[in-house]
Amino acid sequence: MIPLEWTVEYSTGIPKIDSQHAYLFELANRLARALASGRSDEVLANIVQELNEYVNTHFAYEESVMQQAHYDSFVQHQAMHKKMREQLAEYVVQLQNKTLSAQALSKFLEVWLTEHILHEDMAYIPAVAASGYQP
Ligand SMILES: [Fe+2]
Repeated sequence: MIPLEWTVEYSTGIPKIDSQHAYLFELANRLARALASGRSDEVLANIVQELNEYVNTHFAYEESVMQQAHYDSFVQHQAMHKKMREQLAEYVVQLQNKTLSAQALSKFLEVWLTEHILHEDMAYIPAVAASGYQP
């Protein structure tokens, strides 16, 4: 499903979160293209590094929004973020060890960016709206 395209169906209605999600799509596509065209490990490592940093920024922001909105599944959502960060960290290690499965990494990003946003992220939107908090 590469390239992944950010469309209105992914919109949370929160502009900053939407633009962060769209940028994650772009990074995932950049990585998929680099993997598909056999770019050097250094190029791959740079993209994964940027992805890693951006994911931390994004999750921190999303978690602050959920907290401000007193989202009742905040703890569970935060745990999912932690799991995804750990998985990404695992891929970084595999990349360094040259044992990275490009296919596994691409699939992980695809599932995350589509299913997590469409199901888990969308689930906190009503709480944000109901709280009156405007991120
Ligand atoms: Fe999330």
